Amino acid sequence: MKVLGLNFGRDRQQCESYLVKALEGAAAAGAETELVRMCNLNIKRCIGCGSCTRGWIKEGKQCKCIHKDDFQAVMEKILDADAIIVAAPVYVLAPTGMFKDFVDRMGPAHDFVVMYNTNIERIAKGQDPIDPRALKRKYVAYISVGGARVQHWVSFGLPTMQTFGFPMHMKVVDQLDIYGAYGSPARAQMFAERATELGGNVTAAIGQDPDSLVWPAEPGTCPVCHGNHLTILGTGTQVECPICGITGEMAIVDDEIQVTFSAEQQYHSRLNWGGLEDHYNELHVEPARRAVAAAAAATE
Ligand SMILES: Cc1cc2nc3c(=O)[nH]c(=O)nc-3n(C[C@H](O)[C@H](O)[C@H](O)COP(=O)(O)O)c2cc1C
Repeated sequence: MKVLGLNFGRDRQQCESYLVKALEGAAAAGAETELVRMCNLNIKRCIGCGSCTRGWIKEGKQCKCIHKDDFQAVMEKILDADAIIVAAPVYVLAPTGMFKDFVDRMGPAHDFVVMYNTNIERIAKGQDPIDPRALKRKYVAYISVGGARVQHWVSFGLPTMQTFGFPMHMKVVDQLDIYGAYGSPARAQMFAERATELGGNVTAAIGQDPDSLVWPAEPGTCPVCHGNHLTILGTGTQVECPICGITGEMAIVDDEIQVTFSAEQQYHSRLNWGGLEDHYNELHVEPARRAVAAAAAATE
């Protein structure tokens, strides 16, 4: 069992201290662990050239990013890992730009449903299957670390970290929203212990049915991503989880806000297969269907 820790914070500072605790928890649960300091690597920004995704769509194979830097070396470690623990600092309410730069390079080029369907097409054509590491479900846990004392200064930290794992259909096992720990040794200790537990949880999840896992952290309003952010859609009592892209119904029951998301909506969260498949259909199946229909209409 390989558990990879990615530190998007500074070298040996706050994020790393909690990530080290998480990796200790993973090691105690039997994992082989590795920590990567992203701040010491050269990872360029995505320039939107599209060469990585065009490879999938046009040629049915994965093309490497045109940048020559350290991205692919980290990607290889992610593909080799069974589980990943990501720690990122909050910069101006959200994870640091270094995190987003990495996610932009990783996500679209490794879309799980695209790879799954491409693999089927390749096998049907007698071509080599794609890298099996890319089709193995991975488990992930997130640690967001803000320096603020209050939660409303870390608002988009943890929710934005979900963008790391969902394109590759990673199963989120646990998460930790750290704030108010500077100058509070007791609180820092409590988070360090929780980080160790998180490392144990993600390791224990490896090989388990992702749908059978019990959520160990605080439950959120959204039953899928466990976030508390909601978009008011302006259509009656409907609200949307902006992380999952699913619609729920809001009501006031006994002076308390209650939000319910149907099982059908939960399946269509982009953290689940249904939501990823909806996106695949929107981007790949529908345009192809429209092109066939247009060609047929032109010959009539
Ligand atoms: C440019 C910048 C912006 C920051 N913005 C926030 C913020 O909005 N909210 C917050 O809680 N902390 C903020 N911080 C503090 C960091 O989240 C905090 O210092 C964190 O521990 C850094 O992680 P590291 O020690 O692993 O590098 C900011 C720090 C920097 C450098």
